[in-house]
Amino acid sequence: MAGEYVIEEMISAKAIAARVEALAREISAHFAGTDKLVVVGLLRGSFIFIADLVRELDLPVEVDFLEVSSYGMGTESSREVRILKDLRGEIEGRDVLVVEDIIDTGHTIHHVLEILRTRRPARLEVCALLDKPSRREVDVRARWTGFEIPDRFVVGYGIDYAQRNRNLDHIGAVRFLE
Ligand code: IMP
Ligand code: MG
Repeated sequence: MAGEYVIEEMISAKAIAARVEALAREISAHFAGTDKLVVVGLLRGSFIFIADLVRELDLPVEVDFLEVSSYGMGTESSREVRILKDLRGEIEGRDVLVVEDIIDTGHTIHHVLEILRTRRPARLEVCALLDKPSRREVDVRARWTGFEIPDRFVVGYGIDYAQRNRNLDHIGAVRFLE
């Protein structure tokens, strides 16, 4: 179980909203003219981000979700990625935008892209809300990133610690007590 901790605000709700709007403008420009965009949210951490992002997109979009295994109850990334819930739709020939909460070591998004690539999408891009570049173990980069952050464990705006704190409207860093 999680020990005692406090949450220190790192990125305000207002700063997130402004950044999401800017990302949506860039993404809308990039995919302008497409009528075959599927925005794929990685469950569960991206659920609030994808909800805000798609509402700012100036494009016709479909929304689908993919859930892969990751941290469980702890804070260490498992290197094995399994599909827990697959997409409902086919993505062959579609433009696919994968929406992720955080790229940390990079293993999760690397494996997700490998899986999705075998399904032959026309285009495959990633938008991550947060990036911790100092933690990277595999060379993977999102085309769009909301914020680069230092090596802190964060929660809020969809992101959890032991399944809690997803409902915070801002991003906070967890400080473990002793
Ligand atoms: P990676 O495979 O190491 O890149 O980890 C990616 C996944 O680990 C993210 O999608 C998150 O679910 C989780 N994760 C990484 N860093 C954090 C964090 O600071 N707080 C909560 N979850 C995290
Ligand atoms: Mg995740």
